[in-house]
Amino acid sequence: MNLELTIAKTNEIKSDIEVIFVIDNNLKHHFVQDKKLLKKSGFSSSQDETCLLVSKNRLYVGVSTLESKNLRTAAASACKTLLGTKYKSIKVASYTNKGCTYAMRAMVEGFILGAYRFENYKSKKNESKITHISISLEEYNNVTLDIEKISQQVHKAQIIADATNFTRDIVNTPPEDCYPDVMASIAENIAKDTGLDCHILKPKKLKKEKMETLLAVARASRHAPRVIHLVHKPKNTKQKPTKVVTLVGKGLTYDSGGLSLKPADFMVNMKSDKGGGSAVLGIMKAVAELDLPIEVHGFVGAVENMIGGDAYKPDDVLVAKNGKTIEIRNTDAEGRLVLADVLCYAQQEVKSDYLFDFATLTGASVVAVGHYTSSIMGHNKEVQNLVVNEAHHAGELATALDFNPYLKKTIKSEIADICNISNTRYGGAITAGQFLSEFVDKKHTEKWAHIDIAGPAFVEHAWGENPHGASGAGVRMMVKLLENLSKKSAK
Ligand code: BES
Ligand code: ZN
Ligand code: ZN
Repeated sequence: MNLELTIAKTNEIKSDIEVIFVIDNNLKHHFVQDKKLLKKSGFSSSQDETCLLVSKNRLYVGVSTLESKNLRTAAASACKTLLGTKYKSIKVASYTNKGCTYAMRAMVEGFILGAYRFENYKSKKNESKITHISISLEEYNNVTLDIEKISQQVHKAQIIADATNFTRDIVNTPPEDCYPDVMASIAENIAKDTGLDCHILKPKKLKKEKMETLLAVARASRHAPRVIHLVHKPKNTKQKPTKVVTLVGKGLTYDSGGLSLKPADFMVNMKSDKGGGSAVLGIMKAVAELDLPIEVHGFVGAVENMIGGDAYKPDDVLVAKNGKTIEIRNTDAEGRLVLADVLCYAQQEVKSDYLFDFATLTGASVVAVGHYTSSIMGHNKEVQNLVVNEAHHAGELATALDFNPYLKKTIKSEIADICNISNTRYGGAITAGQFLSEFVDKKHTEKWAHIDIAGPAFVEHAWGENPHGASGAGVRMMVKLLENLSKKSAK
């Protein structure tokens, strides 16, 4: 997307179409020049409602208040409405929330996220796409804007929305074209483009590192597993970064369920089981491009869970990297096995101030909180709340789920240290989180949050600023959180 910021008024800018936001049903505002036509067409200016006046080259979009989340979805709605039309360039005025320029960032994010289409597998690509946006500094409430400040917000919005779309592309790619080695190549390309360090661990090294549970899950696949480690160290500061953050992602490039095979209907869309790992790749790309003044490590366990004579089995007992033994009772609870080893490896390699893992871990999370919300777990309420709040600020939905000692007992095993599934059908998101907690060492217990993105990572209909399919869940929430940690760390 080509973005241009100008001090010219909207009526001085040339473009195919103008997007006008109607705030709080205020059709009397001087931006609204077609009040009569809008009334005639039945436009009620409700949030995200659009009205395209073709003869005027104007698109009106309803926005309930100037809060950033509303501008974000409204801008996305504008782009969705324009899909299939011949318009290629749009112009738009500036909208801030009482001068707060974050609303501009949200608006630009909305345009880029809303314009996203996954067309790599269409023989005929949609050629009519919005490719150019001119933003006038003419502000809705006549607030005088600092071009430097707005330019920074627009720049950040572009990096973050592009990183989200980048993650969406990886998640949407079919398993035949995106397997562990491909994920590793994607990581290497990010590193090449942005200057991140990149280490790829192949099976020989994984064996040496005693990552036997990850290797067991991977065994029946013709695609060998990879563990990816990307490192961001700020280029632009002379000072040593004061904060170190570790991110770990579940990168199941396909989850058939293994020998505890998924029923046919539940296997569809399991290409999305790499959602956590793909989010980590997108976050690392954004962190590098923003050159945040903190140290960030991104680890991805890239594995395919398949069936075959070589497959790991229910009844096997596996030994994780930290020496804990795991009774396997269901090979479809594989994500936690991969994460167990990658969490141990990540903590061995880096002592961090925060440890976050991202995973499409459980169907139970979707049952508990619905399709649009991520479940945030951990032992430290403050860290959990930090994630929930930053998610909301960034335009994602997240809610905290609390651990409890009664559910913890349900993953006990009679023959090993722990069982990979619970003995109850209820509370599955929490028991999965509590399983992971066994692989978080004492030093990191209070610094860790587990983010189950099974609900929002992949949804089979468009919602808010998200399209059908992959949403890039996790990217915006974590980049926002890391930006805020950077600010604190700079003080
Ligand atoms: N990848 C799935 C979880 C999932 C389900 C993600 C639906 C996205 C949408 C995970 O590996 C899995 O299969 N979990 C099982 C756990 C069960 C066997 C304890 C589940 O949720 O059913
Ligand atoms: Zn599974
Ligand atoms: Zn899975």
